[in-house]
Amino acid sequence: MTAGRKAAVPVDALPADEAEAELERLAAEIAEHDRRYYQEDAPVVSDAEYDRLRQRNAAIEARFPELVRADSPSGRVGAQPSQKFGKIRHAVPMLSLDNAFSDEDVVDFVGRIRRFLGLKAEAAVALTAEPKIDGLSASLRYEAGRLVVGATRGDGTEGEDVTANIRTIAEIPQSLPAGAPEVVEIRGEVYMSHADFRALNERMAAAGGGRVFANPRNAAAGSLRQLDPKITASRPLRFFAYSWGAWSGDLPCATQTGMVALFREWGFPTNDLMVRCETVEAALAHYHMVEERRARLGYDIDGVVYKVDDLALQRRLGFVSRAPRWAIAHKFAPERATTVLEAIEIQVGRTGALTPVAKLTPVTVGGVVVSNASLHNEDYIKGIGNDGQPIREGRDIRVGDTVVVQRAGDVIPQIVDVNLAERPADSEPYVFPTTCPVCGSDAVREHNAKTGREDSVRRCTGGLVCPAQAIERLRHFVARDALDIEGLGEKQVEAFYRDGLIAHPSDIFRLDEARLKGREGYGPTSIRNLLGAIAARREIDLNRFILALGIRHVGETNARLLARHFGTFARFREVASAAGRQDEQAWAELDGIDGIGPVVGEAIVQFFREAHNQEELDRLLSFVSPRPMEEQATGSPVAGKTVVFTGSLERMTRDEAKAMAERFGARVSGSVSAKTDLVVAGPGAGSKLKKAAELGVEVIDEDAWFHLVGA
Ligand code: IVH
Repeated sequence: MTAGRKAAVPVDALPADEAEAELERLAAEIAEHDRRYYQEDAPVVSDAEYDRLRQRNAAIEARFPELVRADSPSGRVGAQPSQKFGKIRHAVPMLSLDNAFSDEDVVDFVGRIRRFLGLKAEAAVALTAEPKIDGLSASLRYEAGRLVVGATRGDGTEGEDVTANIRTIAEIPQSLPAGAPEVVEIRGEVYMSHADFRALNERMAAAGGGRVFANPRNAAAGSLRQLDPKITASRPLRFFAYSWGAWSGDLPCATQTGMVALFREWGFPTNDLMVRCETVEAALAHYHMVEERRARLGYDIDGVVYKVDDLALQRRLGFVSRAPRWAIAHKFAPERATTVLEAIEIQVGRTGALTPVAKLTPVTVGGVVVSNASLHNEDYIKGIGNDGQPIREGRDIRVGDTVVVQRAGDVIPQIVDVNLAERPADSEPYVFPTTCPVCGSDAVREHNAKTGREDSVRRCTGGLVCPAQAIERLRHFVARDALDIEGLGEKQVEAFYRDGLIAHPSDIFRLDEARLKGREGYGPTSIRNLLGAIAARREIDLNRFILALGIRHVGETNARLLARHFGTFARFREVASAAGRQDEQAWAELDGIDGIGPVVGEAIVQFFREAHNQEELDRLLSFVSPRPMEEQATGSPVAGKTVVFTGSLERMTRDEAKAMAERFGARVSGSVSAKTDLVVAGPGAGSKLKKAAELGVEVIDEDAWFHLVGA
């Protein structure tokens, strides 16, 4: 029997015993289709039919969560395949890269490096320049010369264990030559060549079913993250080595170039277009050469990566949040295509922003089919930029227009231009709504004190009475990177909100058996599971808690920066609230956090100024204890301490000193107070030294500082 026929019984009317039997049948049937599709590349059902099976499986599981099978197809592919792989904690985090979009950005990058290191403007900083491969990064761990772990990047801290799949990639050595260090982690990019990608898609299309990969990157990612390594083995994956993670003993080379040459000697493929450039001009010339050859390379690249070649300098430069200071990705100009704007839809976000979304006649941009694109805001549609100046020479965007869509990497596609020659004669300028399409409240543009102009974003004034905002806020609160409560996803939050079970995040912790009983799909087991999952989040990492609050501009990176800086939620709240009362020192502390700019600072202060946010925080904190930040450098003698640098430092610049202290888990402050734990004083230190003496704060010199942190 096929589940297609069974679908005649609506899921709502399905008794539990039949549901159980059907889930079993569906699991077997879907597994068989998966096998035919992935292993034999020969599916026997259409995509639509296959999707229907999965949807029915999901619908039954949603109604009977306690019947979800261990081998459920819903866990295998789709939204969260990652949970199906074991987790690997990276011994050294896998970083991402900052982007440069112009030659000037690259010149600035080198300028920043010079300043950070205290080098003269004319001092040489040699860079490597190499293609940025558009694949997915992997870390390969060798112990005693043998490949023992292959992991994806994941969130940079934890990746997925894809060891068995990595072993099937012929280009990756299974062992290192004799004499290699005990532990070596080689990092690089897994990718698929254009020719192999086309052949794979042809093979899949010929096998029927029409399911093909959109681009070589997706094909590489889809192939590497297969549960069955036999499938990965049948996919033509390739690898370029360009970096490393853990390494026992001293590094064998003093430069990036030397390390990569060693990888090549060891048998790893490395990219022939990697060169060392003595000047930024040479690096830029290499970029333009690579860009010119891009289409003929035979594999996708999306830019050129520059790295400081000298590893001692790399070490001194360190990293900011999740990207090294010593490297940058210079992206190629994004890809564009022309299509028709069919409609403009207004979405309302968590902060009440009304965001116009373009509904397009589907078009392929850089290998991906695009049917939605961002229109940013009201002014953007009118042809006015954030600075009030005309963009697109003032050309507005209208429904019915022929528009240019641009897509760059993972960035949301945007409409960047309009072709007036194609504009229909009867077209009218777009009228942006002045009421919220969700709750009907007024939608207004606030006056921005800083720019002296109207904000470009129109916001719904409905606050929490606006379901769009409340729901978005709740969704954000339980999202994967935030509270991440098992069994409480977007759908459940939305349903609970609509049924009046939760209005504020803190209400989640008030859910109890009485309130959940009798709800469809909530038997005793699932109620117990859900309440257990909620209780498990009564203790939560500080950075996740900060992220969950949904403060504007505070995403994952900034939440981490804040958590690391403040250490505890109480301290963050105290300083941010004090800044809201115009306390200068509190403002100075916020401003001084590396990576937190004025816009973010303002948003934080604004959040804590709102009485209803403070009230909700009180409620939340009566249930939840944010876990104080485990200092990044546990065991560091300065972890959690407040340090002040004063006088002229001779072995490092001020920026470098600050970054170094933060790397070791300390907070850096600009002034000495009773809260200061340590003052590092160089020659010429004056009033701060005196103040330290008065307050009895410990004072050490620069050499003692290096000795203390063991650098
Ligand atoms: S170096 C600490 N080099 O780009 C430096 N990354 O946007 C780590 N990538 O996650 C990366 N080609 O997946 C480096 N030649 C290259 C690269 C490269 C592609 C990817 C890598 C990384 C991402 C960051």
